[in-house]
Amino acid sequence: MASVIRVLALLVATMAMVLQVSNATVYKVGDSAGWTTMGNVNYKEWAATKTFRVGDVIKFAYNAQFHNVLRVTHAMYRSCNASVPLESFSTGNDTITIKTKGHHFFLCGVPGHCQAGQKVDINVRNVSTAPTPSALPSPTAITAKTPAPSSNMAAPHKFVKGQSALLGLTIATLSFFVSS
Ligand SMILES: *[C@@H]1O[C@H](CO)[C@@H](O)[C@H](O)[C@H]1NC(C)=O
Ligand SMILES: *[C@@H]1O[C@H](CO)[C@@H](O)[C@H](O)[C@H]1NC(C)=O
Ligand SMILES: *[C@@H]1O[C@H](CO)[C@@H](O)[C@H](O)[C@H]1NC(C)=O
Repeated sequence: MASVIRVLALLVATMAMVLQVSNATVYKVGDSAGWTTMGNVNYKEWAATKTFRVGDVIKFAYNAQFHNVLRVTHAMYRSCNASVPLESFSTGNDTITIKTKGHHFFLCGVPGHCQAGQKVDINVRNVSTAPTPSALPSPTAITAKTPAPSSNMAAPHKFVKGQSALLGLTIATLSFFVSS
């Protein structure tokens, strides 16, 4: 009986993980305006209306001839200092998966652009229920996949990723417990 309860607990935990993964949202920075200095897009306001979660994807869409995306520290974000970025992206179709809670600061490294407001703070608050970031496969804060795999639809839209893999894991784990 105890082992059955353990299996059920495991199943529930795994399903929670599956649900969280499948709830990942793609956010296109600036929505239809994209990543730009044109039109005075207020990226602070844009970010304030979103509830970012671990696992969500941040998409920067822009003309790579005129802009880029640099991940920077809070101090560099505040002062628009692009000299030593933590990471840089420059395809014009950059998708970044958020893997940790807290602030993720990005700016455009082209001189004058950050000062003109082309910077964004992606703040991932404590809103997710499970699992903890340590359960995620990679220890790095952020991974980038470029170019973007899907459409250039206005964000957000839902997508499923890794769901079947996790279901496979569930079944494998379940059969292990049942047979032992
Ligand atoms: C920009 O940031 C780097 C790294 O923190 C620092 O070494 C440099 O002095 C800063 N430059 C300015 C102009 O603040
Ligand atoms: C970005 O990807 C879209 C399709 O998803 C494509 O139409 C567009 O040309 C790409 N832009 C750049 C700058 O690569
Ligand atoms: C969010 O979580 C971190 C660690 O997981 C914790 O240190 C922090 O106090 C939490 N913040 C809030 C507002 O609950």
